[in-house]
Amino acid sequence: PRKIIIDTDPGQDDAAALMLAFASPDELDVLGITTVAGNVPLSFTSRNARIVCELCGQGERRVFEGATHPLKRSLVTAEYIHGKTGLDGAVLPEPTMKVEAQHAVDFIIETLRREAEGTVTLCTLGPQTNVALALQKAPDIAPRIREIVMMGGGFFEGGNITPAAEFNIYVDPEAAAVVLGSGVPVTMMPLDVTHQLLTTKARVAKIAAIGSKPAQAMVEWLQFFERFDEEKYGSDGGPLHDPTVIAYLLKPELFQGRHCNVEIELQSELTVGMTVVDWWRVSGREANATVMRHVDADGFFALLTERFARL
Ligand code: BDR
Ligand code: CA
Repeated sequence: PRKIIIDTDPGQDDAAALMLAFASPDELDVLGITTVAGNVPLSFTSRNARIVCELCGQGERRVFEGATHPLKRSLVTAEYIHGKTGLDGAVLPEPTMKVEAQHAVDFIIETLRREAEGTVTLCTLGPQTNVALALQKAPDIAPRIREIVMMGGGFFEGGNITPAAEFNIYVDPEAAAVVLGSGVPVTMMPLDVTHQLLTTKARVAKIAAIGSKPAQAMVEWLQFFERFDEEKYGSDGGPLHDPTVIAYLLKPELFQGRHCNVEIELQSELTVGMTVVDWWRVSGREANATVMRHVDADGFFALLTERFARL
């Protein structure tokens, strides 16, 4: 199986990504889970990651706590979407498993130095702070990373936290710029893809029909998470962002995109955190990311449901 580290700020959709990975041990070897401040402060994201592990019978997983705040800016959170805890919707016991003593950034560095070069993939589901800190502290790890697959950005689709910026990039744009400038192969799942993945009633009903505890918790999380879009935009369901990263590793053929240049706006107050995607290759700047744009939505939800049923 492919070795991955999941860097995350759970978040109901982060939880869905973790569950998809846990349900896929033949394809994915999760070396560790690193947490970052994002949707909610770090103490909550670390708690939530462990709740998801224990819900799925994965209490032996290793969870490492990372950055409490972005590289240069104050933390912006999204309780208005995810609820006060970040994982509102399902009532679950507080976790009993402990976080590891080692800092997430050191775990990332140590793991990349230990494992064979080009074998470890980093999956980033929140702000890029931990990975940027690791790259800054230990530049030698960059050529050792197989790929960074991130949920972040939005180009034709625009932003979800400002008209120009997607939340994960907006929270720590400097970190995103470090990652995109690192020379590591990056695959990006922007809002252009995730907004095609609505948790419609029909899709959620299929997950509910699984009938297991994890599936039931997931249904309650999704119903909480999607209320925001349903109320604000009148859509049937809300967009499911973070599991795209794991789904891509399992079934890359579900996604289509383009290898092109992406730069992050760091200056303008109006557009800070914008992912400037050179889709038409007009800038002459070197390609640094594969930016996805299309997804087979039914195929994606079929995969999700089939895998959740294994938990
Ligand atoms: C991203 O922001 C968070 O709210 C979600 O967990 C996802 O990672 C979507 O913009
Ligand atoms: Ca997230």
